[in-house]
Amino acid sequence: MKIGILGLGTVGGGVWDILSTTKFQEYDIKVKTALVRNKSKYISYEEQGLNLTLDPYEILNDPEIDTVVEVMGGIDKPYEYIKYALSQGKHVVTANKAVLAKHMEEFLALAKNNNAALLYEASVGGGIPLIKPLKQNARINNFYEISGILNGTSNFILSKMSKEGLEFADVLKQAQEKGYAEQDPSDDIDGTDMARKISVLSSTIFKKHLPLEHIQINGIRHIEKQDMDIAKKAGCDIKLIAKSNYENNNYKAAVEPVILKQNSIFAQVSDEYNIGMAKGDNLSEVSFYGEGAGRYATANAVVSDLLDIYNHEAIEHLAVDFSSTKVNPILADYYV
Ligand code: NDP
Ligand code: HSE
Repeated sequence: MKIGILGLGTVGGGVWDILSTTKFQEYDIKVKTALVRNKSKYISYEEQGLNLTLDPYEILNDPEIDTVVEVMGGIDKPYEYIKYALSQGKHVVTANKAVLAKHMEEFLALAKNNNAALLYEASVGGGIPLIKPLKQNARINNFYEISGILNGTSNFILSKMSKEGLEFADVLKQAQEKGYAEQDPSDDIDGTDMARKISVLSSTIFKKHLPLEHIQINGIRHIEKQDMDIAKKAGCDIKLIAKSNYENNNYKAAVEPVILKQNSIFAQVSDEYNIGMAKGDNLSEVSFYGEGAGRYATANAVVSDLLDIYNHEAIEHLAVDFSSTKVNPILADYYV
């Protein structure tokens, strides 16, 4: 396997580090080239033998590169490059829920037509193995509901406000410094990132597309320390939660801050940790918990996808139905 990485930041750098550890020497896997914007920032990688380029097409047109890892973020450029890679029959692994939530339909069709794998475990829940086990179980079990805390930055902010009494802006800065936040952190705090994740996850697991524009989205920007204090006095916590319910060909979906009893499962999820919970017929309830953002947790999920491709174990794409779906908002008290 010869890999080209688009982006060498928090996640891309982590992928390089993990694949450079001795345990990967037994595999015939090599990262050949990485795309960056500013080579001088990444000189240490060049010194370790990684070829850096400013031209994405040096990777996309390289006949030796069979697998492209997209970890650059954004929508328009990743869209162009992923489309190109898949149309050349290259496998694609991406952590980018923003591009998936918008262009998944086209990517899945291209992957199928070109016999390529498109894997995206890191795009939802960071390091939590979530998509693969749910996809495996969706072959046996009819899921009808997915809910979760699916954004590390917003959960980190709310946790620190609750546990340490810190102000919103100070905690956001910490989350940015730790590499959890998106390039535009509004995506994290306004709920957009979580909505993209619940869309990608729902479309994959329920096999029916959940359009982003139909999800009712409220973020945490307006939550102040005094709101947290009031919740705590009542033995509760405030969490940003995503929920999607798919029954009778009808979605109900929302992302919103919710007041939860402190002893509830979701209230126990702190800092950048995430949880995803699914409900189905055989599996009445199943949960996945772990680090939802951060360099090595996320890179671990990317490398896990790479190994599935390497070992020819990528689960076939479940056919997603992209015809229009009715989506209703969920009432806030639905959670309590
Ligand atoms: P970073 O901002 O840390 O890294 C982005 C990298 O891509 C940088 O190396 C940057 O290069 C490069 N890049 C961006 N745009 C271009 C461009 N137009 N041309 C060339 N190079 C470019 O982002 P992250 O690693 O944090 O995130 C990457 C993706 O992973 C995003 O889609 C994000 O949503 C997703 N993700 C991130 C997680 C996290 O915890 N950080 C967790 C799960 C998913 P340069 O520095 O030279 O500009
Ligand atoms: N910005 C995202 C988060 C990264 O905080 O959850 C992981 O997808």
